[in-house]
Amino acid sequence: MRTDQPKRRAAFFDAMAASSPSAVAVIPAAPVFVRNNDVEHEYRQDSDFFYLTGFDEPHSVAVLDAVQRRLTLLVRPRDREREVWDGPRAGVDGAKAAFGADEAFAISELADKLPDLIQNHSRVYYRLGHDRAFDDRLLAAVDRVRARRRTGAVAPAEIVDPGVILHEMRLRKSPDEVETMRTAARITREAHELAMSRTRAGMHEYEVEAMLLDTFRRHGSERPAYGSIVGSGPNACVLHYRKNDRRIEAGDLLLIDAGCEYGYYASDVTRTFPVGGVFSREKQAIYELVLEAQLESIGAARPGVTLDEIHKLSVGVIARGLLRLGLLSGDVDKIIETDGYKRFFMHRTSHWLGMDVHDVGAYFAGGKPRPLEPFMLLTVEPGIYIAPDDETVPAEWRGIGVRIEDDVLVTESGSEVLTAGIPKTVEEVRRACGL
Ligand code: GLY
Ligand code: MN
Ligand code: MN
Repeated sequence: MRTDQPKRRAAFFDAMAASSPSAVAVIPAAPVFVRNNDVEHEYRQDSDFFYLTGFDEPHSVAVLDAVQRRLTLLVRPRDREREVWDGPRAGVDGAKAAFGADEAFAISELADKLPDLIQNHSRVYYRLGHDRAFDDRLLAAVDRVRARRRTGAVAPAEIVDPGVILHEMRLRKSPDEVETMRTAARITREAHELAMSRTRAGMHEYEVEAMLLDTFRRHGSERPAYGSIVGSGPNACVLHYRKNDRRIEAGDLLLIDAGCEYGYYASDVTRTFPVGGVFSREKQAIYELVLEAQLESIGAARPGVTLDEIHKLSVGVIARGLLRLGLLSGDVDKIIETDGYKRFFMHRTSHWLGMDVHDVGAYFAGGKPRPLEPFMLLTVEPGIYIAPDDETVPAEWRGIGVRIEDDVLVTESGSEVLTAGIPKTVEEVRRACGL
């Protein structure tokens, strides 16, 4: 049995009970998506569902009753014939024995059981609008309870997003979660180091992607945390580049944004390096500017500081640097005020990181950016991207794209970079590329 999930359920029950005298949560498993014809996409459990249950099978629903503090799981029943094809299922008995459900039913009983499970609760925590097919099933259950009112059954009066509780819980990592994320970071470090040492001009971007995926898998990562970006030359300027099919040329910068998922936790790392290890003057200038911005922002990460402040530090360094390099002109405050830098730095500096790469958790509280707290985890990832066809800058600057990204844990006194040690200074990068 998983050890974290019972503690999480207890905390979830406490928070639900504190916000409503009679709450129940309904959390469906991730749907199965058809890829084409009769082939399905690889299945990955919904993060909220896994966080609370540790159960990774599709076609399941968790119902958490905060009054009785009971977990009910509805799951696929054992089926000898299907299990020959798809592998073993926990089944109804396994849901109780191995996953700590107080009660379990076959998922085929959902329409009958769900009204019973939610009745006499005034509030249902359920994420409306996320899975429209399941919305219908939940609303049908609510309606069935309403039809029973003359027998004394109380129908739920509120449907509330469980994210208001669960996503706040997920935002602050437990020591065990931090350990898992350290493992993800370690595997991702190996992958980036291997790519730096093995990439040669003449290889295709997909060959580098294959090295990354091979490293992830060899170390027990289930899958990448997101589609790996391997962008050489001008492709480094495409923020969500995914084709990874260009032939890498000598002297190109190669931007790799790749991180593994391990035990359902993400890592998210970007490194940019010159193939062959030698930066041109312009590429080095842009690289050092992004690095300065990143170090400045990481240095500010500590309790009480906001992501907005961290972003503004990167913006300041980048705007001043671009001005110094002659790629922007005018007054730096004016450039910042009018978003003049956004042509080159068009994304934010940070996002939460956890089970989802762009993790859950509110970014604002009371309409204002929220202050960081210990055990939150964020990325710090400034970048500069000069479009290949940007005729406002001299030709030698065009097509340069650099991003540097690390995973940062907020601690009591400051922060800790979980992905530290992946070559980052110009000298470290040169050495890692074999020079
Ligand atoms: N790899 C996605 C991101 O950096 O946000
Ligand atoms: Mn990334
Ligand atoms: Mn990121």
